[in-house]
Amino acid sequence: MHSILITGGAGFIGSHLTRLFVTRYPNYRVVNLDKLTYAGNLENLKDIEGMPNYQFVKGDVTDLEQVRGLFAEHRFTGVLHCAAESHVDRSITDPLSFVTTNVLGTAAVLQAAKEAWTGAMDDKVFYHISTDEVYGSLGKEGFFTEKTAYDPRSPYSASKASSDHMVRAFYHTYGLPVKISNCSNNYGPYHFPEKLIPLCIHNIINSKPLPVYGKGENVRDWLYVEDHVRAIDLIFHQGKVGETYNIGGHNEWTNIDLVKELCRQMDEKLGRDKGTSEQLITFVKDRAGHDLRYAIDATKLKNELGWVPSLQFEEGISKTIDWYLANKEWLDDVTSGNYLRYYDQQYHKR
Ligand code: NAD
Ligand code: DAU
Repeated sequence: MHSILITGGAGFIGSHLTRLFVTRYPNYRVVNLDKLTYAGNLENLKDIEGMPNYQFVKGDVTDLEQVRGLFAEHRFTGVLHCAAESHVDRSITDPLSFVTTNVLGTAAVLQAAKEAWTGAMDDKVFYHISTDEVYGSLGKEGFFTEKTAYDPRSPYSASKASSDHMVRAFYHTYGLPVKISNCSNNYGPYHFPEKLIPLCIHNIINSKPLPVYGKGENVRDWLYVEDHVRAIDLIFHQGKVGETYNIGGHNEWTNIDLVKELCRQMDEKLGRDKGTSEQLITFVKDRAGHDLRYAIDATKLKNELGWVPSLQFEEGISKTIDWYLANKEWLDDVTSGNYLRYYDQQYHKR
C-alpha cells in the first residue's frame, strides 16, 4: 500500500492530480496538504472528498514541523509536490511570497522527506512539478529540451528554477529519489480566472473587456490539464530517478489568435452573432519582462514512456468552455470571493 502526500492538491493542476490518484489507485492512501490560499478551493474536489483513501489537511508547506508530523503519521512512500504561488503577474507585484512558498516551501518538504527516508530511500519517490518558464524565453525558432540552460526572467520563474535546483541538490547530496517535470501552459476545468483562458471565458460570458497584453504576439504552448496529470502519473511510476522530463502540447498559439478562437467558439455556444465577442478585445499595457515564446520538445517523454497529448486544442477548448458554462456557480463563487469568506468562517471555528 502506497501512502502519498500531494501538496497543493486543492489548486488547478493539483485537484486533477489528486482526483486521478484517488480514483485510479484505490489501494493508495492520498493525503492532500493545502494552505487554501485564494487559489485553493475544496469545491474542486467535491466529487472525491468522501472517498475512503483520501484525506485533506489544511496546512502550509513552509511549516516544517507540520510536514514532519505528517510524514511521521502517514509514513509517506511518495510525494507529489504541486503547491506553489503560480501566477506571474502576482509575482511581479509581490515577489517575496513566491520566494517563501516556492523556494522555502519546497526546501521544507524536501527536508522532511530526507529526514523520514534516510536509510530507506529505495522504494520512495519525491516528484517535483515544475514549469517550462525556468528555461526563459524563446525567439521565433527552437524548443526547450531537458538540456536547455535555465534562464528564468520573472520572480515566479526564478522561484521555480530555484526550487528545481534545490530538488536536484537533495538528489546529488543526500540521494533523495527525485523526479522533476517541466510543463508548458495548462488549461481546462477548475483553472482560476486570473489566468488568460478562464479570465477570457469569464469576461466573454459577462460581456466585459478581454485584456490582451502588448500586441498579443506572445506565444504559449497549451496542454489540456488531464494530459499533464496523465504524464505525471506515468513519470511517477515509470520515470527514472534523478531525471527531468519536459511535458508540452506541441500546440503553439499567439495570445491574440487564442483569444479570437475563444470568442469564435463562445459566440456559437452562446448563440451570439459572429464577431460579437471579438469587439471586447482590448489591448492593454504589456506585462513587465513578458517572455515572448515558450515551446516544449517532449521527445524524451514520448520515446521513453510513450506519452503523447490526447486532445486536439479546438476540442480541448470546446470541452473547457462547456465546463465553465455548466459550472457558472463555481465561477461566480471564485470571482466574488464567496468561497474565501466561507473558509475564513469554517476554519476560524476549529
Ligand atoms: P494554483 O495556483 O492553481 O494552485 C496552487 C495550490 O497550492 C493552491 O491550492 C494553493 O492553495 C496551494 N498553496 C499555495 N501556497 C501553499 C502553501 N504555502 N502551502 C500549501 N499549499 C499552498 O497552481 P497550478 O496552476 O495548479 O500549478 C500547480 C503547480 O504546477 C505549480 O507548482 C506550478 O508552478 C506548476 N505548473 C503550472 C502550470 C500551469 O499552466 N498552471 C504549468 C506548469 C507547471
Ligand atoms: O508555461 C507554464 C506557466 O504557464 C505556468 O508555470 C504558470 O503557473 C502559468 O500561470 C502560466 O504562465 P503564463 O504567464 O504563460 O500564463 P497566463 O495565463 O498568466 O498568461 C498567458 C499569456 O497571456 C501570457 O503571454 C500573458 C498573456 N495575458 C495574460 C493575462 C492574465 C494577457 O495577454 N492578458 C491577461 O489578462
